Amino acid sequence: MLVLVLGIETSCDETAAALVEETGDAAVPWRLRSSVVASQIELHRAWGGVVPELSARQHVRDICGVVARALQESDSPFDAVAVTRGPGLVGSLLVGVSFAKALAWARDVPVIPVHHLAGHIESLVLENGEMPLPAVVLVVSGGHTSLYRIDRPGEYTLLGRTRDDAAGEAYDKVAKLLGLGYPGGPAIDARAAAGNDRAVHFPRTRLTHADRNAPHLPGRRDFSFSGLKTSVLRHVTKRREALGLAAGEALPSLEIDDICASFQRVAVSTLVERLFDAARECGARSVGIAGGVSANRRLRADAQARGVARELPVFVPSLALSTDNAAMIAAAGLRQLRTRGIEAWDGNAEASLAL
Ligand code: KG4
Ligand code: ZN
Repeated sequence: MLVLVLGIETSCDETAAALVEETGDAAVPWRLRSSVVASQIELHRAWGGVVPELSARQHVRDICGVVARALQESDSPFDAVAVTRGPGLVGSLLVGVSFAKALAWARDVPVIPVHHLAGHIESLVLENGEMPLPAVVLVVSGGHTSLYRIDRPGEYTLLGRTRDDAAGEAYDKVAKLLGLGYPGGPAIDARAAAGNDRAVHFPRTRLTHADRNAPHLPGRRDFSFSGLKTSVLRHVTKRREALGLAAGEALPSLEIDDICASFQRVAVSTLVERLFDAARECGARSVGIAGGVSANRRLRADAQARGVARELPVFVPSLALSTDNAAMIAAAGLRQLRTRGIEAWDGNAEASLAL
């Protein structure tokens, strides 16, 4: 029987619902039927970042309408509800988890608890078909920068992750200190296109030692972005002093373009290098980049170019599926259903769930 799954995602600042169905085709296993995303970006913009309590309250307001719209765009009854169980903001996660449980109970279908990052990874397969395995996938968003190896469908092995800021977080913080607003990633992406990426020298971080908190991981595959962020802060402070700028006065526009381009060159080359180094070490037959930062134009272009040079297929999601959405959660739910079967679940949301 081909299964239709309703996905629900409320881990951060998007309330989302989607319907994804199985195709019966092993190479392209799923098809998107409907996807609705209510973004809270405008709500949080005034605060310069996501305010957890405001986020949870907005999910409560939006969830009924978002799920109703996702269901209205399709007339079939669904066979299971997949929901993001974690990681994320706990108040926000609870809205989705409680809603999913209630709806599943009312319709007498199972709930499939999904890890948010498994969702980002499976977004690659939803749109592009199965990745040749083994694969190495970089999940890079506002909350995460992690490398996973996939040897078998649905099995994700952590190879490395950030020790401090996530890459998207570094984009957001750098944008904030340049006065570019929130979220910072798209703003820096746009400004960098006009700048000279060699104008300012920012250092690259390469970790060689294992993390004391994760001694089982070889440290060389970990990331660190807080040093890069701090050196942008130092450069901006120095330039503001040199130009005698008053508080609230912006740096010259061309200079901001150059800082964005120089920051982005370092951030993107770190991500691309670590991804392809891991792929070589693992003998990967494909690589992928998922999560909000995968929308970045330079990251996509540089990764595609490196993939061509190394003769490795590079999987990236469409822009709609790169930031948080529920289609990826439904896809990961279907993956779980086929690899692990239906497991009775009555657990809770988990803010720091491990994959
Ligand atoms: O996956 P996502 O929607 O939410 C999390 O799970 O974090 O990712 C959001 C992050 C934000 O930090 C945002 O600045 C970043 O993705 N982002 C970008 C771009 N578009 C979104 N970063 C760089 N370039 C972009 N074009
Ligand atoms: Zn995400």
